[in-house]
Amino acid sequence: SSCIALIVAAGSGQRFGAEQPKQYLDLAGQPVLRRTVEAFRRHPKVSAVRVVINPAFRDLYDAAVAGLDLPEPVAGGASRQDSVRNGLEALADSAPGLVLIHDAARPLIDSDTINAVIAALDTHPAALAAVPVADTLKRGDDGLVAGTVDRSGLWRAQTPQGFRFPAILAAHRDAAGLELTDDAAVAERAGLPVALVPAREENFKVTTPDDLTRATRALDSALS
Ligand code: CTP
Ligand code: MG
Repeated sequence: SSCIALIVAAGSGQRFGAEQPKQYLDLAGQPVLRRTVEAFRRHPKVSAVRVVINPAFRDLYDAAVAGLDLPEPVAGGASRQDSVRNGLEALADSAPGLVLIHDAARPLIDSDTINAVIAALDTHPAALAAVPVADTLKRGDDGLVAGTVDRSGLWRAQTPQGFRFPAILAAHRDAAGLELTDDAAVAERAGLPVALVPAREENFKVTTPDDLTRATRALDSALS
């Protein structure tokens, strides 16, 4: 069945603090968003890419994806959850079998991880890329350690998060207005089993200027 990549790029990058939203900044010669889009476009199991944007930045979007011949972008919303839901609604008519929801701000997504998330959807209605927690975790209280948290079984959620399309569309409609931080949480709330797919540290989210430096270094060392 068809698999659509839905890339959410409607955020404003407050924590990054640049003049432009971070997804439109240059990363080693190409806009962050263009790299993210291309990672999915060149994946043989992804049939199409749809991007969710803030229409106020339409000019930056057009420049970032010039020549890629993408379908019309979808207008996002105030929260990430609203942006995803708008994107899913825009896909409803074409009714894909699967959707991969991915942050524009994760440009270093690799094809093995995309593959593994899609493969997990053979046996589960939902799946997310995630990395096991490696550090020892402390609970803090007013600058003092209040306890050590058992990290066994804990994972850090990334994207892509993949879903059988009808199930996640219904779950997102039902969760509208809640403040859930990722789409797996929307699926969990709907009672869908969510598979954990081990992913790579390299698929980190560009949140601050330091992250963009780290991404630049990762690309430089991949080339040399
Ligand atoms: N996003 C979105 N619509 C929103 C908020 C976020 O499509 N209303 C997207 C961002 O563009 C990003 C992804 O969701 O690709 C992850 O969000 P985040 O890293 O938080 O990006 P921003 O919200 O832009 O950054 P900040 O929270 O620092 O303002
Ligand atoms: Mg945000």
